[in-house]
Amino acid sequence: MGVDGILPWTLPYDWENFKAVTKGKAFLMGRKSFESEDYLGSDYKNFILTRNPQLKMKPNSQPIHSIADFLQEVEQEDEAFILGGGRVFAEALEMGVVDKMYLTLVNAQPEGDTFFPEVDWSQWQEIDSFYHPTDNRHAHDFYIKTYIKKQ
Ligand SMILES: NC(=O)c1ccc[n+]([C@@H]2O[C@H](COP(=O)([O-])OP(=O)(O)OC[C@H]3O[C@@H](n4cnc5c(N)ncnc54)[C@H](OP(=O)(O)O)[C@@H]3O)[C@@H](O)[C@H]2O)c1
Repeated sequence: MGVDGILPWTLPYDWENFKAVTKGKAFLMGRKSFESEDYLGSDYKNFILTRNPQLKMKPNSQPIHSIADFLQEVEQEDEAFILGGGRVFAEALEMGVVDKMYLTLVNAQPEGDTFFPEVDWSQWQEIDSFYHPTDNRHAHDFYIKTYIKKQ
């Protein structure tokens, strides 16, 4: 899901869908994702996981030191999004604090240095699946799938 600090693919429709689904919601992301050229912050609130107290912030962003602190900050929100990267996804899934996943499954085998964690799929139910074919804006076809945690 990442290579050299950026995404391994360019999929404009996936970005458009991401913006629509996450509009007005709070985000949590790791410091490297925050510093990535691909950074796309929330225009509401961005919480940046870092151990560096000097990290320079951008508009609508604030540092945070643990996923537990993030959960406290967004306690009153109806929904908040964890945007990665790899270890942040792994940690959040291990903590059992994720109840919905939006996954884009790209039909490509690029070089990568950051990977989505292993998931115990027996705990998840697919509730939506959208297919986007290749076209002049998209070099790869892909699915956007939504899963909810089984009770
Ligand atoms: N395909 C996707 O959906 C997607 C999504 C997000 C990112 N990406 C890609 O993934 C790559 C970046 O991901 P990454 O896994 O390398 O890095 P990352 O998770 O974005 O950032 C890692 C940094 O977050 C901070 N951090 C992580 N866990 C922490 C914790 N528990 N407490 C405090 N700080 C914590 C640390 O920052 P400090 O070093 O400052 O302490 C750590 O170095 C890029 O290539 C990006 O484009 C892809």
